[in-house]
Amino acid sequence: MSSSESKPKGPDLSQGVAVDACADGGMLAGHVGDEAVLLARRGKEFFALGATCTHYGGPLAEGLVVGETVRCPWHHACFSLRTGEALHAPALSSVACWLTEVSDGKVRVRTKLERAPSPRVAPGAGAPARIVIVGGGAAGFAAAEMLRRQQYHGGIVMLSDDAAPPVDRPNLSKDYLAGNAPADWVPLRSESFYAEQGIDLRLKTGVASIDLRNREVALADGKRLRYDRLLLATGAEPIRLTIPGMDLPHVFTLRTLADCRAIIGRAAMAKRAVVMGASFIGLEVAASLRTRGIETHVVAPEKRPLERVMGPQIGAFVRSLHEEHGVIFHLEDTAAAIEERRVTLKTGGSIDADLVVAGVGVRPRLSLAEQAGLAIDRGVAVNEYLQSAAPDVFAAGDIARWPDAHSGAAIRVEHWVVAQRQGQVAALNMLGAHQKFDALPFFWSQHYDLPINYVGHAEAWDEIAVDGDVMARDCAVRFKSKGRVLAVATIYRDVESLATEAAMEGATRRSA
Ligand SMILES: Cc1cc2nc3c(=O)[nH]c(=O)nc-3n(C[C@H](O)[C@H](O)[C@H](O)COP(=O)(O)OP(=O)(O)OC[C@H]3O[C@@H](n4cnc5c(N)ncnc54)[C@H](O)[C@@H]3O)c2cc1C
Ligand code: FES
Repeated sequence: MSSSESKPKGPDLSQGVAVDACADGGMLAGHVGDEAVLLARRGKEFFALGATCTHYGGPLAEGLVVGETVRCPWHHACFSLRTGEALHAPALSSVACWLTEVSDGKVRVRTKLERAPSPRVAPGAGAPARIVIVGGGAAGFAAAEMLRRQQYHGGIVMLSDDAAPPVDRPNLSKDYLAGNAPADWVPLRSESFYAEQGIDLRLKTGVASIDLRNREVALADGKRLRYDRLLLATGAEPIRLTIPGMDLPHVFTLRTLADCRAIIGRAAMAKRAVVMGASFIGLEVAASLRTRGIETHVVAPEKRPLERVMGPQIGAFVRSLHEEHGVIFHLEDTAAAIEERRVTLKTGGSIDADLVVAGVGVRPRLSLAEQAGLAIDRGVAVNEYLQSAAPDVFAAGDIARWPDAHSGAAIRVEHWVVAQRQGQVAALNMLGAHQKFDALPFFWSQHYDLPINYVGHAEAWDEIAVDGDVMARDCAVRFKSKGRVLAVATIYRDVESLATEAAMEGATRRSA
């Protein structure tokens, strides 16, 4: 890239722009020196922030200002306009902040400010001495990071039975699997981060049981560890089909970095792959294998991929998108048996394959919570503060079923951003913040270069209203029940997705 290409776009904000160039509630993308900076306005106040999202580099100026925050258009991270703090995941690092000055009808961006995130919980005398987190995934990591951001100085022990430190799991079915992302994109933080932050991360450390009465966890090696607060964030594990051949060496499921590396290793010599299941993960894997040039077949029982979650319109579109990229679907069919070089289908046919990936769903890892006697309701039952039936024990992420203020139902979802945000709220609450988890569920999925964003939660609906054209990749699809919008899926309508999220959250908070 030449230097002229890499120069940020827009006006030089240090030279100033007319006050009216930035409307109230609006943003303007510009630069200060070589740094991309966005100018945002609330009433008479102007804010200047780094314009590039610290998650995957989304252009914040194309997002939305909501109150004193700016939301990223790509995956809805939320930054404080005042401090640049990444208030809500998936971004975890702040953006820079600059001083602004208004004079002579112009607003100018001045010096860069050194602003540390302001703690949301006062470090009280009653802070727990040791917090133990079971799980080194989305929720567990976000919790540990938030605890230190709150200037919590007590002990944090993070136990994970995985061999890898916390990773960017969504990448494992997308760019990293496709070969488009370097290995250093995958860890959420460098190895030194944990020691620097005083987070005692213990990998390959399984937790065998919890003793609620004595506030102890028992490790798989028999050692015991005391906690003052415990966060359960054990996530989910892939469902393994019980068909013959599942244990063959060319058959994989995908959850961990090791799973992903094993698939990449096999893909290097594979020519034809079968993906079992047209789930989000199954289809993302299919896209990544196609990017690697492997002939890819998807076998799934449904009529249209993703129809149960996204409805028939997006289901049909996603199918055609994958077919354009050469994926061959075998729908309304399932695998009956796997052999070394082929997969036999229930309807009688067979597909030659030297790589098989099963993406047929996941099961929450509930055994610890069940054994401890915590209340279980198809997940660990928690209240709006993410607290389980035992007041010192919190749960977050794929295992947690919480009272969702928007749908009015107790729900459990398997979304990266929800898990991270729950980890963040659980962290605040373990320090005594008493903050409700009331974020609207959000997830994204990526197929080739096409992102689909989804806000809300609709397990069932009686109407689907399509605004725009799904096939033309420009749409907002609303899932309604009795006239009420429960969820909205969008393709290339990022601001509409953000505005829907803000409106639905606002409406719920006002009625609370
Ligand atoms: C390949 C892939 C792609 C995905 N893509 C997307 C996406 O695009 N968008 C989206 O919204 N969601 C996506 N998801 C889902 C998302 O990753 C999960 O919802 C999220 O990781 C859940 O976070 P969690 O913290 O609950 O669990 P996890 O991230 O799974 O972490 C659980 C942790 O607990 C540990 N653990 C479990 N039991 C024990 C025990 N007994 N002792 C010690 N440690 C234990 C595990 O080793 C792991 O470290 C994807 C998932 C996968 C697998
Ligand atoms: S790039 Fe901003 S939230 Fe992902």
